Amino acid sequence: MFDVEAIRSQFPALSLEVNGHPLTYLDNGASAQKPQRVIDRISKAYSFEYANVHRGLHHLSNVATENFEQARKKVQTFIGAEKEEEIIFTKSATEAFNLVAHSLIAPEIQPGDEIIISLMEHHSNIVPWHYLKERYGAVIRWIPVLDDGTLDMLAFENLLNEKTKLVAVTHMSNVLGTINPINEICEKAHSVGAYVVVDGAQAAVHEKIDMTWQECDFYVMTGHKLYGPSGIGVLYGRHDILSQMRPFLGGGEMIKSVTTEHIEYADLPHRFEAGTPPIVQAIALGEALDFLTEIDMGAIKIHEKELLNYANSQMAALDKVRIIGNCPSKGSIITFSVKDIHAHDISAILDKYGVAVRAGTHCAEPLLTHFGETSTCRASMGMYNTKEDIDRFIEALSKAIQFFS
Ligand SMILES: Cc1ncc(COP(=O)(O)O)c(C=O)c1O
Repeated sequence: MFDVEAIRSQFPALSLEVNGHPLTYLDNGASAQKPQRVIDRISKAYSFEYANVHRGLHHLSNVATENFEQARKKVQTFIGAEKEEEIIFTKSATEAFNLVAHSLIAPEIQPGDEIIISLMEHHSNIVPWHYLKERYGAVIRWIPVLDDGTLDMLAFENLLNEKTKLVAVTHMSNVLGTINPINEICEKAHSVGAYVVVDGAQAAVHEKIDMTWQECDFYVMTGHKLYGPSGIGVLYGRHDILSQMRPFLGGGEMIKSVTTEHIEYADLPHRFEAGTPPIVQAIALGEALDFLTEIDMGAIKIHEKELLNYANSQMAALDKVRIIGNCPSKGSIITFSVKDIHAHDISAILDKYGVAVRAGTHCAEPLLTHFGETSTCRASMGMYNTKEDIDRFIEALSKAIQFFS
């Protein structure tokens, strides 16, 4: 049974007081707090199990290598990937997109070839494609967003053509909360022979991901939002595609042999993991995924949906508040602006009451511009949030609005 108090008790940060108030942490979309067992796993790995991986023949190196590779298997299981070599560890979601851009798309792209991305992308799934536009003459085509934050699937279909090389789209918007129909997107993109990279940085935290039926070519995640450490990201890639790709970064770990004349690349997945990898971060991510699996992603989704509905109903009673994104298929994120009050001012007042939200563009400037905003606040809920958190947030928000009115 989903027991939110039992879950909360495992997160030391949630017992903090901020400015004399209990911490109300609603900035999970930016980064989540860490459970004690992840913190302990990091400490144990550095204390008693640490050496570099894949290189040594001594005991500690073998232990570290085994734990690191075990973490890869945990990611494989978590997302239902067919093979563990399909799991590439990166330092972030951002690095994963750059890897796909440079290793897969850049070598193939011709001037005039098209890359389709949506207007609701995070900058990390925009800027790498802009690089390809700048450097190779690729054309970026944007999937529009409807007023309620739904992706315009009709427009998407019309954008697809024989020049489309890649569709890069988020599974869940970090601003609107919109959950996109990735299977339908993949099916349509594949019908014109395009690759699909899906940004799962937000979605993987809130619902079950399963590559056995979600037919993406690439799926990207980031550890710090999954209640794991920062400095670790995941690129899932289909084996047949990854095995044809050239490496992104060059250095140690990713080669079989180096001579003065010649290099031979290592097999998957190490070919894409140049240099000393984020060893302890990967191991701790594995621990976070165990934690999520034990709680159950289905139960987390139900709990967060209840919180979202509750927060929406409370916010509806507030004057001057505009919620951006209210489509039916939505995860636990509420982005809003308040008429005539700057988002930074709102968030500063909320902080005085111990409420942590995000203010700014949320690394999604094209989307904010589309909705006529330059800065908004975002309350993003995680599995440990409660209705009491929402009550404290609403109370603080009402006071902030009163204060500036
Ligand atoms: C939807 C989405 N994609 C990508 C990222 C980038 O993740 P990272 O900063 O870990 O690379 C974020 C982070 O905020 C995000 O919300």
